[in-house]
Amino acid sequence: MTALEKPVTRTAYQQSVADYWNAEKDPVNLRLGDVDGLYHHHYGLGDYDPAVLETPADRRDEAIIAEMHRLETAQADVLLDHLGPIKPEDRLLDAGCGRGGTSVMAHLRFGCQVDGISISEQQVGFANAHVRQRGIDGSVRYHLKNMLDTGFGSGTFQGIWNNESTMYVDLNELFAEHARQLKPGGRYVTITGCYNDVTGGRSRAVSQIDQHYICNIHARGDYFKAMAANGFVPINVVDLTAATIPYWELREKSSVATGVEKPFLTAYREGSFHYLLIAADRV
Ligand SMILES: C[S@@+](CC[C@H](N)C(=O)[O-])C[C@H]1O[C@@H](n2cnc3c(N)ncnc32)[C@H](O)[C@@H]1O
Repeated sequence: MTALEKPVTRTAYQQSVADYWNAEKDPVNLRLGDVDGLYHHHYGLGDYDPAVLETPADRRDEAIIAEMHRLETAQADVLLDHLGPIKPEDRLLDAGCGRGGTSVMAHLRFGCQVDGISISEQQVGFANAHVRQRGIDGSVRYHLKNMLDTGFGSGTFQGIWNNESTMYVDLNELFAEHARQLKPGGRYVTITGCYNDVTGGRSRAVSQIDQHYICNIHARGDYFKAMAANGFVPINVVDLTAATIPYWELREKSSVATGVEKPFLTAYREGSFHYLLIAADRV
């Protein structure tokens, strides 16, 4: 870093998030990613094939892992479905990109340039090495950047998404930065867990999830307030809660369960937490 460059992490909290992801080598992420080289740090959507649970013992674990990975890839496909028409000459931003799976999928689908950013140097290094191996490093690039102040030019991107990464940041700061970087008429999509304003504040289960990931789950209403304040007009809001529960039920039975399955299932089933997709246009 030169004297003029700003540090990527600005607060002790951001440093702890970076430390968490720099150290993270969880089999639930790595073993699933090894299936086909798409590394995800998000959850799955859709029903699982119950036959995987009947697989003979020596292949059962492998079958469950492949099935969970299929559901996680299906989740990223649903997010990309909501970006609208993207042309090969457009540019997309994956904000809080993890090890980069959704960025790779976006490039393969739209043929365009994708920039992924993460606050974790390890993730950025891993993801760049992976796209080099795939031979798509000329089109998909990962950067160590803070999504609240990326340094990208104004009006650069036709589409921006946050796939399960909004719970680490202040939403007003985030949407102000996204509004700056998006072209007018550009599309923003997020898939996120949010707590239910109707049932009050954070339930015990939601607090347990926050503690597990060192994050700050926002209320559902906070998204719409912060979007409206920053020039975003929602075009689609999809409650994905029912569609993600099977993934958690399968994950609870898997060898790669981390212990966070119980709070997720409790929070979804009691209605204190939603898995939501929001797509919005920048006006
Ligand atoms: C749960 S992971 C999701 C990763 C990815 N979107 C995916 O779907 O696989 C959260 C990501 O947000 C990133 N993150 C958290 N705070 C950030 C910030 N202020 N700026 C950039 N990235 C951040 C973390 O480094 C991590 O990559």
